[in-house]
Amino acid sequence: MKVRKAVIPAAGLGTRFLPATKAMPKEMLPIVNKPTIQFIVEEAINSGIEDILIVTGRSKRPIENHFDANEELEAALEAKGKEELLATVKDLNKINLFFTRQSYPKGLGHAVLQAKNFVGNEPFVVMLGDDLMVDQIPLTKQLMNNYEQTHASTLAVMPVPKEETSKYGVIDPEREFSEGVYNVRRFVEKPQPEVAPSNLAIIGRYLLTPEIFSLLETQEPGAGNEIQLTDAIDRLNQIQRVFALEFNGKRYDVGNKFGYMQTIIEYGLTLPEMKKNLIQFIKETAQNL
Ligand code: G1P
Repeated sequence: MKVRKAVIPAAGLGTRFLPATKAMPKEMLPIVNKPTIQFIVEEAINSGIEDILIVTGRSKRPIENHFDANEELEAALEAKGKEELLATVKDLNKINLFFTRQSYPKGLGHAVLQAKNFVGNEPFVVMLGDDLMVDQIPLTKQLMNNYEQTHASTLAVMPVPKEETSKYGVIDPEREFSEGVYNVRRFVEKPQPEVAPSNLAIIGRYLLTPEIFSLLETQEPGAGNEIQLTDAIDRLNQIQRVFALEFNGKRYDVGNKFGYMQTIIEYGLTLPEMKKNLIQFIKETAQNL
């Protein structure tokens, strides 16, 4: 069955970015001129996803407004002949977006469970907003390509420094099934480095079969006393194969302040209108340190 649907959990409180995220969702924090969640939505679209459900919480209205039409702004840009800017705001309302709310922050697994009716009986992808991925083939598309071969759930993983395993879901790889694709013995959420089965961490892109929902419904709270998606995936792996695909592209972690700064600088360096000035600024600033 074709993968057509994506779920983007966006109900987190964004406490790491307070006070910026007091009234503004963290998903709207801009990378220069584009909110982080727009990068995720664009990855979904570039992968061939047709419908996207964003699971939001309280004070997340700006996300809905961002992807809605803004007639006043469009008319003003049109009157001024600002065609390019007009296209950047108009393109956003062509996307098939749906919203639902997670009323209680009970964890990522619980957020994904809110998508049960939207997804129905189809395979789907989950895309986390803190990880921006860059590669020639979008990572979500790479997972979809693997699904076409295996018809099995597949998550993206990447090596991380061993001392950081407690920030991630970590896999216990069994053997290489095909190049860069692993069979997995166990999926463990946030293990301490001493007990982590490897340094291959789950990086926020999942292709899942719909059987995950009945498992999420009965999932007991795990790490951090939250209903963890990783724990339900570990149980899914006991009834059907779940693969891990190693991502070789570039990952930007915009969920912490330093990663966010790095992303802004690297993204700025890809923009022709500022590349030269930015390089000069960085050099001069570094010399004065
Ligand atoms: C979540 C997942 C974790 C995964 C991580 C990737 O954790 O629970 O398995 O490795 O995203 O960013 P969180 O960052 O929400 O604590």
